[in-house]
Amino acid sequence: MHQTLTQNRQMTLAARPTGAPGAEHFALRTTPVPDIADGQLLLRTVYLSLDPYMRGRMNDADSYAEPVAIGEVMVGGTINRVVASRHPDYQAGDWVLSYSTGWQDYAVSDGTFLFKLDPSTAPVSHALGVLGMPGFTAYMGLLDIGKPKAGDTVVVAAATGPVGSTVVQIAKRLGCRVVAIAGDEQKCRLARDKFGADVALNHKDTDLAAQLAQACPNGIDIYFENVGGKVLRAVLPLLNPNARIPLCGTVSSYNNSAPSAGPDHLDWAWSTLLTKRVTVQGFIIFDDYGHRYGEFAEQMGQWVAEGKIQYLEQIIDGLENAPDALKGLLEGKNVGKLVIRVGPDELG
Ligand SMILES: NC(=O)c1ccc[n+]([C@@H]2O[C@H](COP(=O)([O-])OP(=O)(O)OC[C@H]3O[C@@H](n4cnc5c(N)ncnc54)[C@H](OP(=O)(O)O)[C@@H]3O)[C@@H](O)[C@H]2O)c1
Repeated sequence: MHQTLTQNRQMTLAARPTGAPGAEHFALRTTPVPDIADGQLLLRTVYLSLDPYMRGRMNDADSYAEPVAIGEVMVGGTINRVVASRHPDYQAGDWVLSYSTGWQDYAVSDGTFLFKLDPSTAPVSHALGVLGMPGFTAYMGLLDIGKPKAGDTVVVAAATGPVGSTVVQIAKRLGCRVVAIAGDEQKCRLARDKFGADVALNHKDTDLAAQLAQACPNGIDIYFENVGGKVLRAVLPLLNPNARIPLCGTVSSYNNSAPSAGPDHLDWAWSTLLTKRVTVQGFIIFDDYGHRYGEFAEQMGQWVAEGKIQYLEQIIDGLENAPDALKGLLEGKNVGKLVIRVGPDELG
């Protein structure tokens, strides 16, 4: 695993997928480790975050962010060590969270989109999950859009992932009844036993809609939308008047290259939202809430340090395994926050 300071492996986008992404859509190339100039620092990647949004960046489509160009290094949040610095604010050995490095061993930075981490307060990889972008997404989406009150019924799917598991736990802290939805029995147990959901349902069960109706005898006040598709269709008839839907993601459709076949549910969905006067608000976490990151970091840092919020991560070794791992993430093969260990923790 030890990397020398002469070669930089870069995982680039080689082709745009139709459907699921796979190894054939990526290419691993090797380039020399870059030199740094005054005002710059050299970063070595230790952890790479894999996230559902990456599938969208592989499409050449209009979205909230630019697609990755063919031949470019794949984007992603990373935890890095500073290997060498000619920047006044950083020194060799510092740990940082970077949003400009992506799927590669080494990168040069001028300090933009770089955040220093203190490894004595929490494992550094947590800055890719509960203490970073996914945790922030759960926190703002639930509190600012969901507006939970004690006694509300909250439903969330992808409930053992970094967003969903944080939603479950914050909602429980606020006295809500939480119905978690996940993709297998092991994840359902985790949602109940580790994260504290009142009920956990497997979305692969054919009678999901009936089980959800039974689990929500007083209807649904907040549906934290992570997945869309079959889960959304089971939720719609159960929404209470004035329910809130933080529209966070629709991962069940990220691999679709065209609208799915079958009955068009759109008119039914719209009229349900209208007649129930449901508030639906889409959000892109840093665009909409970047100015409130400090508030989140302070509160979540405290909850995690005090053991009041639990966190689960799955670490897979090797940059070369990132393409398969991303494919698995979109199929629900991950258990907890998916992270790639790109290189060793130690400086060298
Ligand atoms: N709006 C924003 O700014 C923002 C920021 C971060 C994340 N997000 C969104 O938040 C959601 C969760 O992200 P995350 O990082 O916490 O992901 P995650 O839970 O680690 O991974 C995605 C999970 O989605 C579930 N899934 C996949 N296909 C599904 C299907 N057909 N039906 C139901 N569930 C399916 C799987 O869990 P199961 O096996 O349990 O089904 C899978 O593990 C995603 O939609 C993501 O795009 C949005």
